[in-house]
Amino acid sequence: MTLTALARRLLGRFVPRTPEIQEWEWYARDHVRNRSRSSQPLGAEWNTPERIGIDAPPEAVAERIAADVILPHLAHSSSVLEIGAGGGRFTRILARHFPRVIAADTSPTMIELLRREFAGNSGVATMLLNGTDLSPIADASIDAVVTYDVFVHLPAWEIFNYLVESRRGLVPGGRAVVHHSSTFTDLGWQKFLEDARRTALRQRPRGRFTLMTPDAMRELVTRSGLRVESMVVDVVRRDCIARIDRPS
Ligand SMILES: C[S@@+](CC[C@H](N)C(=O)[O-])C[C@H]1O[C@@H](n2cnc3c(N)ncnc32)[C@H](O)[C@@H]1O
Repeated sequence: MTLTALARRLLGRFVPRTPEIQEWEWYARDHVRNRSRSSQPLGAEWNTPERIGIDAPPEAVAERIAADVILPHLAHSSSVLEIGAGGGRFTRILARHFPRVIAADTSPTMIELLRREFAGNSGVATMLLNGTDLSPIADASIDAVVTYDVFVHLPAWEIFNYLVESRRGLVPGGRAVVHHSSTFTDLGWQKFLEDARRTALRQRPRGRFTLMTPDAMRELVTRSGLRVESMVVDVVRRDCIARIDRPS
């Protein structure tokens, strides 16, 4: 490991957690506390076809997104980093298709749930992130990055920092699939109005989407040194899923 990589890894541990990151930790702890009341894994509550605009029943939402958008773009990858793996809704699918999956998240409780679920699978590793960078990931060491239902909540600066970090961690020619909000679609605007109402009532900000469009995301991707291969807007019609590569 180079001196810069070692310094990055050590300093990365001391980044303070933001209130938004702490909210997700509480969400995970609530799930664990109430687990006896629900047999559903954490994340099943986000499979809502009518809200996200997908033509699939709830139990097939993640499989459909993976089959139509994620897997075809990552066809030649062997190692995949998932940013914000949460309760493992997509990790389960990635683990079936790729020999090495790193399921990363900022919430220690999410990481613990993932660690327990994949304890018997040597192809899946977990990684606690500081929410700012990918400091535990060495330069040019992974083939692909996937992030779903995470960047929808992040401000543009944090998205940009993750894109720059993804470029650093990806091998030349590596791929990424980045799901993000698209505020001005019909369903995106419905979500915006819901969040605006909750904000006016001073409700907790958990789950709020940040403002983003496919054009703005394209700019951020390009300015981070990556390249947009395609923007998929017709599978999850509320949002957008950017298929990206790192130029060789
Ligand atoms: C809505 S959940 C989505 C989880 C999973 N990707 C899925 O689709 O089921 C958002 C996840 O992102 C994580 N998260 C929030 N802020 C993050 C950040 N800055 N960096 C990495 N993960 C973050 C949360 O802890 C949570 O597990």
